Amino acid sequence: LRPRDLSGRRVLVTAGGTREPIDPVRYIGNRSSGRQGVAIAGAAALRGATVELIGANLEVSPPPGVRLTEVSSAAELAAAAATSAASADIIIMAAAVADYRPEITTQSKIKKETQGDRLRIDLVKNPDILAGLASTRHRGQVIVGFAAETEPDDSALLALGRSKIVRKGADYLVLNRVGWTEGFAVPDNRVLVIDLAGDIVMEASGSKLSVADRILDLLA
Ligand code: C5P
Repeated sequence: LRPRDLSGRRVLVTAGGTREPIDPVRYIGNRSSGRQGVAIAGAAALRGATVELIGANLEVSPPPGVRLTEVSSAAELAAAAATSAASADIIIMAAAVADYRPEITTQSKIKKETQGDRLRIDLVKNPDILAGLASTRHRGQVIVGFAAETEPDDSALLALGRSKIVRKGADYLVLNRVGWTEGFAVPDNRVLVIDLAGDIVMEASGSKLSVADRILDLLA
């Protein structure tokens, strides 16, 4: 049984992976399934919070009891987050947001018959949604970011996380390793959580649902 320790709190969670359109039928995406973010949203609802979930191409069903806004691209996620962020007490950015998008999205399908042997797609940087929300946050609002990295060991992961949390201005950063077989699209996770000072405030491993509850313990 869970405590109702988030009762009366408004929690905004982003989950899934964005898709950046190349043309009407193709995109650049990532392997995030949305499992960890969906687990957090579901657990927060069970703990009494009013939960809004912004889901980007979720591969799992949304949990009961949350309001779901479906998005696909980083730009759509940014717009949805901008609408909901002001009223949230806690913002948890678990979505894997594309760092770059195609500079041009063509209105018709790109054809190999006209492209020849090489196709070049220029990418431009997406705005950092988390950093933007952190810079305009209201007093008392808690902001949690995620960093999924391929660094082979914890010390490299921590070094990266410590500079990232400062750059983004989040209160907490949840670090996890991702790769071909871990992190994304699997039921279990292992995370390290650091605060803005760079200290490890929590370490958890197990099912994404149990990791979700540990993260919420920290915030509650
Ligand atoms: O910089 P990096 O992509 O590793 O940062 C990951 C964190 O920042 C996640 O919380 C993700 O949701 C968020 N992010 C964002 N906007 C971007 C890229 C990442 O909010 N354009």
